Amino acid sequence: MEIVIKKDYDEVSELAAKYMLDVIRNKENAVLGLPTGGTPIRMYNIVVEEYKRKKILFNNIKTFNLDEYIGLSKLNKQSYYYFMNKHLFSYTDIKEENIHTPNGMTKDVLNECINYENKIKAVGSMDILFLGIGQNGHIGFNEPADFFEPYTHKVILKEKTVKSNSRFFEKIEDVPVTAITMGVKTILSAKKIVMLAIGETKADAISKMVNGKITPQLPASILQLHNDVTVIVDENASKYL
Ligand code: F6R
Repeated sequence: MEIVIKKDYDEVSELAAKYMLDVIRNKENAVLGLPTGGTPIRMYNIVVEEYKRKKILFNNIKTFNLDEYIGLSKLNKQSYYYFMNKHLFSYTDIKEENIHTPNGMTKDVLNECINYENKIKAVGSMDILFLGIGQNGHIGFNEPADFFEPYTHKVILKEKTVKSNSRFFEKIEDVPVTAITMGVKTILSAKKIVMLAIGETKADAISKMVNGKITPQLPASILQLHNDVTVIVDENASKYL
């Protein structure tokens, strides 16, 4: 794992955006794996600024988001599809058919998980996948558990995750408690992984991910098995490294 410590959120986001822009510039039909959450917002802003300067195109880019809440439609402001449109897609010329998020409104979750996994396989693999990390070491919505779930699957979110995500909702009761997420094998199938982490609340998880044993109790630790991971953290998140 390559660890890059930057001064603050802006510097972390600049470097992360550079990774995304380089991939897009070098491969016009690149496949991107994307996260939501607070951390990647500035990275998306920078990429949009670059798009507006006409320095890049999205018209052949394909994207796969890591996860989506079950029960929220694309029009719901808290859905991850909506988030992606708000922060990235709506500014670009990306084609709607090239945007992929798990369908949180499906009547058949198992089938949706299989379909999503197959769609990723059908494009070969993600050229680059960006990740955030939960305070409990989750990646995507792969929560601490007794075993690793390899493929796209349904999860019941941990109380801590629901609480943390409630900052984006009016009240905590509105936060869905189930979601669909890529599994760890899906994540590891990306050619390159870039993880971003900001703030002291992530410092413990970051240190365990980098220096601890590989365990499903800290899902991000599985990234130690991938041969091309760059972890970009600010000084606060690097506190225990
Ligand atoms: C979201 C996702 C999550 C977040 C993580 C960190 O698509 O996959 O794993 O990356 O919860 O969230 P923030 O960035 O809000 O701290």
